Amino acid sequence: MTRLLSSMSAPGQRHALQAIRGRGTQLTLADGRTVLDVGAMSANLLGHCHPEVVAAVQAAAESVNVGDMVGYPPREQAADDILDIAYAGEDWTGSVALFVSSSEAADLGLALAQMLTGRNPLVCRRSSYHGGVGLAREVSHHPLWNTSLASLAGGVLDRPSLAQTREIPMPECARVFPAPGHDCAVSCLAGAPDALRDAAAVIMDYSQGGAVPSAQYQDTLAGMAKAAGAMWIADETVTGLGRMGHGFAFQRGSSRPDMVTMGKGLTGGAVPAGALILSKAVVEAIGKRRWMTSSTYRGHPLAVAAMSAVVKVIDRDGLVDRAARLGATLAPELESIAASHPCVRGVIGEGLSWLINLAEPDRSLAEDDWSGDGQHTPMTTAVHEAILDQGVLIPESSGDRLWIVPPLVISEGDLATALEALDSALVVGDRMLETAGVS
Ligand SMILES: Cc1ncc(COP(=O)(O)O)c(C=O)c1O
Repeated sequence: MTRLLSSMSAPGQRHALQAIRGRGTQLTLADGRTVLDVGAMSANLLGHCHPEVVAAVQAAAESVNVGDMVGYPPREQAADDILDIAYAGEDWTGSVALFVSSSEAADLGLALAQMLTGRNPLVCRRSSYHGGVGLAREVSHHPLWNTSLASLAGGVLDRPSLAQTREIPMPECARVFPAPGHDCAVSCLAGAPDALRDAAAVIMDYSQGGAVPSAQYQDTLAGMAKAAGAMWIADETVTGLGRMGHGFAFQRGSSRPDMVTMGKGLTGGAVPAGALILSKAVVEAIGKRRWMTSSTYRGHPLAVAAMSAVVKVIDRDGLVDRAARLGATLAPELESIAASHPCVRGVIGEGLSWLINLAEPDRSLAEDDWSGDGQHTPMTTAVHEAILDQGVLIPESSGDRLWIVPPLVISEGDLATALEALDSALVVGDRMLETAGVS
C-alpha cells in the first residue's frame, strides 16, 4: 500500500518494478537484483548517470536558481548547442523554446499553429501519443495513454475533450515495413486531405502506438499538410538525437517540419526537460510579437547543463552512427527470433528502437483497443517477466508489444545477452498461445 498515486495505477497500487540505482546499462532493483536495462526509460540515450552529464548537472547545481524571467547565459548556450550540433546542416531551424517536458513543448507548438494559421482543428493519427497536458493531451488518442480513468472492474471514465481533433488512420507502413510499390497517398493517407482541410496542424511521431511510419508516409503527409495550409509538427521526443540511427527520424525523409518537439533523451534522462524547435518561417510569422508567459522551471540551470553535455557527448562519440550500425545487425537477429516463435506477429524498428508485436490471444488487449481497464495479464507482461527472470529488462509498451529501446552506448555483448533472454522468454508466449488454442 502506498499513498503515492502513480501513472497506470489505482490509488494504493505500487509498481511491480522498483528501481534504486542505475549505472550505464545496469539497473539495481529494490529487491537487490541488478539487471541489464534495455529500456526502463527511453530517455536514457547515454545510459544511467553518464559521468559527464552528472558532472555538468552537479556544477550547475552550484551555480544559481533562476526562472525563465531572468536571463542565464548557459541557457542561450544550450539553444546554440542544440541547433549547431544536433541540427547541424538543418538550416531551416530558427529558434528553440525550452520546457519542463515534451508535452509542454507540443502544447505550445500546437497553440502556435492555431494562432498563426487562425484555425482550430488539430490532426493526429490513431493510437498517437504526444503528451499528458494541454493540447498535447488532446492529440494523444492512444487508449492506454490518454489520461482517462480505467476501472480495475472494467470500463473507462473518459476525460472530456478540450479541443477539436481529427484522427487519421494507423498507416499500413507503420506496423510492417512497406512492400515494394507501396503508395501512402492511396493507402495510408487517402483520407488525410479531408482531415487537413482548414486544420491548424498535424502532429506525427515515429514510435508510439506501436507505429514506425515510413519516410514515404512522412513526406506524403508533409506535402498534404502544406497543400492544406496546415503546419506539420514532428514529435521527436523518443527519436531525436540518434535513437533510430539518424540524428532525427524526419531525416529519413526529404520533407522538413515547421516545428519539432523534443524531450526525453535531450537531457539523457538526467533532468526533466523538453524543447520546441521553430523553423525560421515560424519565427518570421511570429515576427515582432512577444511570447507572453513565464515559467519557474523552463530552461532550468540543471536542465540546460544536461542538454549541452548530452549533445556534445553524442556528437563526439559518434553515437548516431553507432545506433545505425547496431540497428543493422539487430534487424536480422530480431527477424530470425520472430520467425522461430509463433507468439511473435512481427517486429518493426530502426536503429535502437524495436517493437515486438506479440500474438496476444485476447484481441481486446490489442494496442489500438485496450484502455487498461480490467485485471488482465497480457502476454507481454508474462514474457516481460520471463525476460526479467533472466536478468534483463525489456519493457512492455502496450497490451501486445514489447519495446527494445536501449541506450546508444549499449555494448554488443549486452545486446546479445538481451536477445538471448528474449528468445528463451518468448517460449512462455508460445505456450500461452498453445493453451489458448490459437496457432
Ligand atoms: C512520442 C512522445 N511524445 C511526447 C511524449 C511526452 O513527453 P513528456 O513525458 O516529456 O511530456 C512522449 C513520452 O512518452 C512520447 O513518447
